[in-house]
Amino acid sequence: MKKTPNFPLLALAAMLAAGTAAPAFAQSAGSMTFGVGAIDVAPKSDNGKLAGGTLPVDVGNDTQPEVTFEYFVADNLGLEVLAATPFKHDISIDGLGKVGSTKELPPTVSLQYHFNGAGKVSPFVGVGLNYTLFFSEDTRGALAGSKLKLDDSFGAAAHAGVDFNLPKGAIRVDARWIDIDTKVKLDGSKLGTVNVDPMTYSLAYIFKF
Ligand code: NI
Repeated sequence: MKKTPNFPLLALAAMLAAGTAAPAFAQSAGSMTFGVGAIDVAPKSDNGKLAGGTLPVDVGNDTQPEVTFEYFVADNLGLEVLAATPFKHDISIDGLGKVGSTKELPPTVSLQYHFNGAGKVSPFVGVGLNYTLFFSEDTRGALAGSKLKLDDSFGAAAHAGVDFNLPKGAIRVDARWIDIDTKVKLDGSKLGTVNVDPMTYSLAYIFKF
């Protein structure tokens, strides 16, 4: 019989209720973590101008469930993969309002260093690579009836956060910056590039193995 609930939130509640913390695990070579949480992707406020600089674009934010997996290739040095369910972002043009939306998936691989891995508060920083797939682009309003296409993006990412270590896991608060730039086509014609370049913010429970 398992005595530990499998469902992450129940596990989280149980661990928080456990109160007194035993020494946390060090993040030693060969160990792994698995994280479950929520992540908000917040594109930067000025996302570029299309059509020769005449159409300023704004991309909205969205929050989705996330999972992370990290494998420690050396003590305190982990290789992390971020995955999430698809995000949906509204696309607006200043003066025209909402003109469409897109879905995207931004899988990211990062190499990250954890400080004070055995302590109760363990910050980390990382750098990585992101590939963002755009799909299910849609148009409405001033662009209704046109076909919108956003190219996939490949770029750098940076990650920083803090683990609040518990006996068997951690509560993680973190932020990422991801360089996401996508070339935009409308009815097959190139309109320019949208610089999504979001910050992401997440809260997760980290299981340690
Ligand atoms: Ni960029």
